[in-house]
Amino acid sequence: MATSAAGVVGLDNVQTDILGCEEGRKDKPKMQAEIPRSPLTPYPRGWFLVAFSSELPASGVLPLYYFGRHLVAYRTDDGKAHVSNAYCPHMGAHLGHGGVVSGSCLRCPFHGWTFDGDSGQALSSPYGKKLPPGARLRLWTVEEVSGMILVWFHDKGEPPTWSVPDEASAIEGDWTDWKETRWKLRARIQDVTENDLDAGHLPVLHDFAASTPTAELQVNGPQIKVTMNVELNLSTFGLPGSVISPLYTTKHGLSIGFIHQTVEVGELKISSWSLGCTTPIDAEHVDLRLLHRIRKTGNEQLDQMIDLNYFSTFKKAVDEDAVIWENKAYLMRPQLCEGDGLIGHFRKWSRQFYDEAEFAAAYDAAPASTL
Ligand code: FES
Ligand SMILES: [Fe+2]
Repeated sequence: MATSAAGVVGLDNVQTDILGCEEGRKDKPKMQAEIPRSPLTPYPRGWFLVAFSSELPASGVLPLYYFGRHLVAYRTDDGKAHVSNAYCPHMGAHLGHGGVVSGSCLRCPFHGWTFDGDSGQALSSPYGKKLPPGARLRLWTVEEVSGMILVWFHDKGEPPTWSVPDEASAIEGDWTDWKETRWKLRARIQDVTENDLDAGHLPVLHDFAASTPTAELQVNGPQIKVTMNVELNLSTFGLPGSVISPLYTTKHGLSIGFIHQTVEVGELKISSWSLGCTTPIDAEHVDLRLLHRIRKTGNEQLDQMIDLNYFSTFKKAVDEDAVIWENKAYLMRPQLCEGDGLIGHFRKWSRQFYDEAEFAAAYDAAPASTL
């Protein structure tokens, strides 16, 4: 078999195809189309984190870039968080750069027009007598829950069909402050989310897992609960040995996931909460924000040590995953084996966040085998 200059095997007849010459093609083997990195849209439907509540104080204005769009988040004087398209409908100033909250409105820095936070309508201008009715900001549907400012994304503009429960506020007890690590990754949200259910990769890619965990799944509409019995290397907490302990993950759509674990080491009980949020930035990139906190043990020094070890374990694990995510293809028809069980269920569940016809077309077009 011939090897091209680029080192790719079996490309003898490519040039003939490109030039559209049909002559002599009959007897040549049919080339399979190139496999795209992902045939799915990078923008599935659901609730997505665009900022934490603490990042948008009273009267705050925040420029954002998500879903391939310039956006602005602002908090009006009644305390409500709003998200709208960034460009002023008057003459296109970016409202996130110099825009100011005034009562229940956002004022543009360019000519001073004000826009109502609830309707987006232009209400006033320092000089114009009659404002055009089309002068209206496109508002996004926002919910603020568990300290997160979430926007609803739907490619066809349909309203929310579910909401995210307030899980973080329900956490009882005395915990360390949330500590965050953030990544901008050249990855798709589908791959990042699927990772939470991928038991097979844990001990191979991450040294916090000592063996392949068993896992169970519970599906409830847009919510999915996963219990993994992970054999955790206690080096995660700066301790020797390993211990088996269940890891509970609850996902709300593809974007938001809470993870809870309690590890018992002799007399010591180490409990942790993590929150992982993935939001598409553009067609190629996602913003991954990962927070965690530890239940205080009563020993500040011990808390600090556990916290630090947990933090660096988490960071290392995502850095390891990132190499895979940033370079992998998303196969619509992966060749799964029995131990991959949850992946198939996850994929069935995640289909609800895509346009059914588009998903089916991508599936039908996908090669049954990568060979
Ligand atoms: S561009 Fe915003 S008021 Fe003119
Ligand atoms: Fe991973």
